[in-house]
Amino acid sequence: MFVTVFLLLVTFCVQGGNGQEESQRPGHVSVVIVGGTGDLAKKYLWQGFFKLYVNQVSSGNSFSFYGGGLSPVEKSTPVLFEILKSVNCSKDVSEERCALVKEQFLRLAQYRQLKTLEDYQDLAKHIEKQLQEEGMVEAGRLFYLSVPAFAYADIAGKINSSCRPSSGAWLRVVLEKPFGHDYKSAQVLATQLGNSLKEEEMYRIDHYLGKQVVANILPFRKENGKFLDSIWNKHHIERVEVIMKETLDVKGRIPFYDQYGVISDVLQNHLTEVMTLLTMRVPTNLSNSAEVLQNKLNIFTSLLPLGKHQAVIGQYRAYQKEVQKELNKTKDHVSLTPTFAAVLAHIDEPQYDDVPILLISGKMLDERVGYARILFKNDIFCLQSHNSVHCKPKQIIFYFGHGQLQYPAILVSKNLFKPVLVDSEWKEVTEHQDVTVLGLPISDYYVQTPVVLKEAYAELISHIIAGRRNNFISNENLLASWDFWTPLLTSLASSFPRIYPGGVDNGDMLDVSLKGRDIRYINEVVIISPDQVGGQSTNGFQVMQGKFRSADMVSAWMEELVERLATDIQEAAEAAVRKGGVFHLALSGGSSPLALFQRLALHHFSFPWTETHVWMVDERCVPPTELESNFYSMHEYLLRHVKIPYYNIHPMPVQLNQRLCVEEDRGTLVYESEINKLVNGSSFHFVLLGVGFDGHTASLFPGNKMNDHEKSLVALTESPVKPHQRMSLTFTAINQAQKVALLVMGKGKHELITQLSRVKDNPEKWPVTGVKPSKGSLVWYIDYDALLG
Ligand SMILES: *[C@@H]1O[C@H](CO)[C@@H](O)[C@H](O)[C@H]1NC(C)=O
Ligand SMILES: *[C@@H]1O[C@H](CO)[C@@H](O)[C@H](O)[C@H]1NC(C)=O
Ligand SMILES: *[C@@H]1O[C@H](CO)[C@@H](O)[C@H](O)[C@H]1NC(C)=O
Ligand SMILES: *[C@@H]1O[C@H](CO)[C@@H](O)[C@H](O)[C@H]1NC(C)=O
Ligand SMILES: *[C@@H]1O[C@H](CO)[C@@H](O)[C@H](O)[C@H]1NC(C)=O
Repeated sequence: MFVTVFLLLVTFCVQGGNGQEESQRPGHVSVVIVGGTGDLAKKYLWQGFFKLYVNQVSSGNSFSFYGGGLSPVEKSTPVLFEILKSVNCSKDVSEERCALVKEQFLRLAQYRQLKTLEDYQDLAKHIEKQLQEEGMVEAGRLFYLSVPAFAYADIAGKINSSCRPSSGAWLRVVLEKPFGHDYKSAQVLATQLGNSLKEEEMYRIDHYLGKQVVANILPFRKENGKFLDSIWNKHHIERVEVIMKETLDVKGRIPFYDQYGVISDVLQNHLTEVMTLLTMRVPTNLSNSAEVLQNKLNIFTSLLPLGKHQAVIGQYRAYQKEVQKELNKTKDHVSLTPTFAAVLAHIDEPQYDDVPILLISGKMLDERVGYARILFKNDIFCLQSHNSVHCKPKQIIFYFGHGQLQYPAILVSKNLFKPVLVDSEWKEVTEHQDVTVLGLPISDYYVQTPVVLKEAYAELISHIIAGRRNNFISNENLLASWDFWTPLLTSLASSFPRIYPGGVDNGDMLDVSLKGRDIRYINEVVIISPDQVGGQSTNGFQVMQGKFRSADMVSAWMEELVERLATDIQEAAEAAVRKGGVFHLALSGGSSPLALFQRLALHHFSFPWTETHVWMVDERCVPPTELESNFYSMHEYLLRHVKIPYYNIHPMPVQLNQRLCVEEDRGTLVYESEINKLVNGSSFHFVLLGVGFDGHTASLFPGNKMNDHEKSLVALTESPVKPHQRMSLTFTAINQAQKVALLVMGKGKHELITQLSRVKDNPEKWPVTGVKPSKGSLVWYIDYDALLG
């Protein structure tokens, strides 16, 4: 429920006008880089602002530039000027002019200590004085926070309280990732920043969105719509891949990196952004930020949740040593932080049902390269001419840079179509080096590349000055992205990454295969380094059979247990279908069966769903659209993923005449007569039950007057916990089933299992002891956690 509410709010905000382009007036712009002598500033930012300055000298805007930092002016002024002196002009600027503008640029720049609130107040006074003295109109103030994220809130507070320009001029504050390390921390940061800055004043940068090829994905999709519209869907797309491979390690950055890992550092932002650009609906107006951001958000809401089986992780071998050294840890310290991850995502939309979306990134891999590939299905069979163009892979590649090709490009294999150029900033490449790109010689592609190569930061800086927000991350999108990634991060928190040697020696160790919705490494070799002992040992025992309360019992670790139960249900289903053409399955609510539902949905593709009728063991008296509804979770985890005819689904009629579980609406009789009508002898083939901490089963609770139900199959009952009202199958219905399974899982149930092993049958006190199939069989499925504690 929480997620839905959140997204509704988000939709509302965006439509409320957030993200509109701001009006611009020409005038003076003050640029402040907080952290102005840091690495990022040195490498990219000053160069980007210099380029901006060169391009804008004639546009009516004037500028002043401030490099801010914590150290005093005397110390850092020379450092800043060394950095500023190393900026370069692009090739099309003459040496003479370059020298001139560079000199001007240096004169417009100064270092300022920005530590205390007073420092910020002084800066504001300085800016105002300058505006006044030179009689300039102020256009705006741009603060670029190139500092660790923990300092954001404090600096934003100081900017708000002392550096806001007077009305008519804009304030823009640029922020760099990391924006938190999970949903909660991102939300905390968002709240803190929101106290000081308005959403439209914040520009959250992801430099990937400034890369020319990435920025051209939507324009390319739009301009080539006439070719793409009919093939951009599950019927034609085999797979989508978004890949960023790095050769570097993280030496020197461990104190930062070890808290994040590759998923938070790269997948959550860069790769996710590219994925949304590839899959979102193409906006009707690409310059309309609100529409762009909204369409992106729609993809986030459609992403299927990621579980443990949708990811594999790795860690390069030298990482442990680096961690021990840089974090001053002893030799027995083990970091589980992944430096490699391959994740398999799916979008729950009719257009993309079951299309695998692979997101992969890692450090210390064999080459440095970034690309996204749309691989299409090829339905042509070539009997003889395997080399002719129509037999080859059909693919579109957005090649961000590096790797074999060395330049950014968009490649379309010639057996697809000849793409049109988006605009005059792109050109076709016809002269090729002799290279192969993802399995095809370059000559088998139509290739487009930018006419002039532009640096991502410089591109984004010009967008910020222009107030164009579509290539930045909105708060809504950021939180939606964390909402998607956080559960995976949590579920991987104690998983051991596969250790890989690094570089070409990785061989096929990190190759993966996709099975249904799951991803795994293709080979099972697991290299455990000597520092990595002490992990969970599984003792080698798998599934164990025995007796519990004089009925049959199956026990195993949770995953094996769930698979065993799923297999047993499928066997029962196949037997029933062979015999009578139909299988009647009654499922209970609660959390234990969810893992089973998922197992059935994602692994048991040959299950005879078309012949299966699904009934409910019990239901809470809430509308079926609410999270608390058993039908709701059954639908979310199972029914919507399998091909079961609608008329085979039998939710309990808890809602009749616009009210819930009122005796006189006779919902119980409605359900009972439906059972009598469809189920031979009212005897279900399979009934799945759980047990509550108080010993209740179905919705039959301790103290309920079981005898009142006597012959009826369905009854209204009272639960001691909310929602109190329930509808449930009675013992009569349960005990005439052919097979009954009692599923009990988790350490929390150990105490209960111990007690149950001792008590006598007493259904009033321990309702589960009333489960005694008269002709059928009962099997307990108890996982080791519940059995052994
Ligand atoms: C400017 O060019 C020089 C020489 O090519 C290079 O060493 C330097 O890194 C460049 N500066 C920036 C900021 O890119
Ligand atoms: C900024 O500071 C003022 C007080 O100086 C405060 O009223 C306001 O709520 C703060 N935040 C924003 C977003 O303006
Ligand atoms: C597209 O959106 C931009 C920005 O909101 C707007 O200025 C422009 O008029 C729009 N173009 C069309 C054709 O609607
Ligand atoms: C590790 O120890 C060194 C030297 O004692 C110190 O400079 C450094 O800050 C420490 N690093 C961490 C992460 O504690
Ligand atoms: C219905 O059940 C009876 C016994 O309970 C059995 O003899 C009969 O074959 C069943 N009919 C079908 C169609 O399965």
